[in-house]
Amino acid sequence: MGEGRIGVIGGSGLYGMEGLENIREVEVDTPFGAPSDAYIMGTLQDRELVFLPRHGRGHRIAPSALNYRANIHGFKQLGAEWILSVSAVGSMREDIHPGDLVLPDQFFDRTRGRVSSFFDQDVVVHVTFADPTCAALGQIVYEAASKTEAAVHAGGTYICIEGPQFSTRAESRIYRQWGVDVIGMTNLPEARLAREAELCYVTIAMATDYDCWHESADDVDVEAILTLLHRNAKLAQDVIRHAVPHIPRERSCPCSTALQYAIITAPEMIPA
Ligand code: ADE
Repeated sequence: MGEGRIGVIGGSGLYGMEGLENIREVEVDTPFGAPSDAYIMGTLQDRELVFLPRHGRGHRIAPSALNYRANIHGFKQLGAEWILSVSAVGSMREDIHPGDLVLPDQFFDRTRGRVSSFFDQDVVVHVTFADPTCAALGQIVYEAASKTEAAVHAGGTYICIEGPQFSTRAESRIYRQWGVDVIGMTNLPEARLAREAELCYVTIAMATDYDCWHESADDVDVEAILTLLHRNAKLAQDVIRHAVPHIPRERSCPCSTALQYAIITAPEMIPA
């Protein structure tokens, strides 16, 4: 039985949770190296929260350089079972406006060579990943997000690019033809590792820009993202505050038993 803790990954602009009580900072060591920063643990409305700023405090670590395995392993060690991953994204759809919230339920990979499995030595694990986010947690977050002033889009495809540069106009236009809804640089490795770690994972994507496909909106630049960051940090915390009381202490979703149904092979399992 788990400890029912709720993990929060803070994206650009979200470096803490207001209203957290009994706060302590916990340094975690993992077999995969060091996470982005110390985890901040505390209670919010009677629930234990575990918070990690994805890029480290001061936004020190680029998307390609993040130690995704250490970050997710740290959450697992600290007893987190649900992960709410807050991220700034570009909008790939006219009707997703900067400032809107999107809760993607699919991912498309345009990264290169990111280490996205815990099982890369001696044991091979093929875990089901057709539905990469937790539907039960997604529904709770959708209801929570709907209580805020932001427009909320349930579902959608998040294309994960390598970065750190934004996309070219040709890439952006082609991604749109592929039918993706939002674009970001970090969430797919997290979702893969969370599934392998049997953690529930959802992305709370906050649209900051129209990337560079839009005819009349400005092309994305860091300035555009920074403008919305302050508002987004408050919005993300509102969503989390509304969601927390509805997150069950016990899980019954398939995420919690993902490895039970995975194909796992190790040398000792192969007959001589
Ligand atoms: N994060 C926020 N906006 C983005 C964009 N347009 N592309 C990739 N990542 C982003």
